[in-house]
Amino acid sequence: MSDQDPIILLIGSGAREHAYAKSIARSNRSHTLVTFGSSHNPGIAELSATYISGSITDPEAVASFAQEQKATLAIVGPEAPLETGVADKLWDNGIPVVGPKRELAMLETSKQFTRNLMADYNIPGCPAFKHFDSVDGVEQFLQSLGENYVVKADGLMGGKGVKVSGDHLHSHAEALEYCQKLVDANSTFVIEEKCIGEEFSMFSFCDGITLKHMPPVQDHKRAYVDDKGPNTGGMGSYSDANHSLPFINQNDIAESKEINRLVVEALRKKTGEGYKGILYGGYMATNEGVRVIEFNARFGDPEVMNLLSLLNTDLIDICVAIGNETLDSVDVEFKQQASVCKYSVPEGYPDSPEKNFPVDISTVEKPDQLFLGAVDMQDGQLVATGSRTAAVVGLADTITQAEEEAERLVNQVSGKLFHRLDIGTEALIDKRVQHMNQLRG
Ligand code: AMP
Ligand code: GLY
Repeated sequence: MSDQDPIILLIGSGAREHAYAKSIARSNRSHTLVTFGSSHNPGIAELSATYISGSITDPEAVASFAQEQKATLAIVGPEAPLETGVADKLWDNGIPVVGPKRELAMLETSKQFTRNLMADYNIPGCPAFKHFDSVDGVEQFLQSLGENYVVKADGLMGGKGVKVSGDHLHSHAEALEYCQKLVDANSTFVIEEKCIGEEFSMFSFCDGITLKHMPPVQDHKRAYVDDKGPNTGGMGSYSDANHSLPFINQNDIAESKEINRLVVEALRKKTGEGYKGILYGGYMATNEGVRVIEFNARFGDPEVMNLLSLLNTDLIDICVAIGNETLDSVDVEFKQQASVCKYSVPEGYPDSPEKNFPVDISTVEKPDQLFLGAVDMQDGQLVATGSRTAAVVGLADTITQAEEEAERLVNQVSGKLFHRLDIGTEALIDKRVQHMNQLRG
């Protein structure tokens, strides 16, 4: 190994980080991977020269491990360490980081910060919104929105702080009651217009100035077939060979890329700092163009598994370029293939998941396309720990063929598990297309 070979510190231990580790392992560059996880992920450990578990949100602990390992580059997988300033601490110690500093990660951690940024910098795609720290004025604002409103608690709530009219809230009285609950819990909140359409995600690699966009992907939040059941971290996702999605058009894609770019530009103007990392734009395609549902300051899980499986460019080159602001000189390319990712999750997930049961992955015929999530090794046996267990990705020329591969692979993961049979199927995609056609007239 030469002095130039990067020593990469990966922070996090879920399936997203397993996808990062696999992508790094495919690099042509000589390198060393060291991992600081919150738990022991055997898939990542196998690919790491050193692996420790600890408090990944503790900047001191992470920085001291980074020093000890002589890390030359860090990648922060999840949002929680971004919120506590792990990236700031590593930069202070001279280590470039893929993952924004705390103030910039407020794009994800504070709904109010994001909506204000969009309003202050005239960024298009922002639904009507208002921020509240008491219930004063809530009723009036709800009246102005009519039947279509969303209440979002400020701060990181793991997706559980958002309540949507028609879905979770069935009257202004119910909405008001939820707002009062938030006030009682000392939480501020945003109320905004409910957008009607189909959701998709637009991810960009960002070095603070240059953005390199990825193919759009659609995630599936609901636990059960046909978008029924409780919200989850995401049950699966797909992308198309033409780097579009069947229910969106070129305008939607161009608008979402431009909004991502404008947000990075606005953040730089507002804070004087470059947003370095992955920008995750959560969009809704509507009959009036795209609307921003949320931003996240990291890769999506499961979407990362689609995108890094399709990435042709060396991920280490991209990460190094993010760190030293030279992303403009890297050609970021993705395979012209469709991808379908499916998660295998414990029976009962997400509300009362089975825990600590054995999982067998020994018959998975394409282990490169398998990603381990909430698992542990106990006495040499792989066990599921209760959250999303493992994901597989199918890759092919069409979404239908990729779905068939994903379905075959996910069935080779055995244990007390279930997955969504419909993700990536023609029937579900047709439904999305019909819905958009109907909205667009
Ligand atoms: P968030 O945590 O902001 O992504 O919200 C969680 C989910 O709530 C999103 O994935 C959407 O399905 C829904 N949602 C959030 N904001 C809106 C909105 N303004 N209009 C419609 N649905 C929304
Ligand atoms: N794909 C959902 C998330 O990562 O938040």
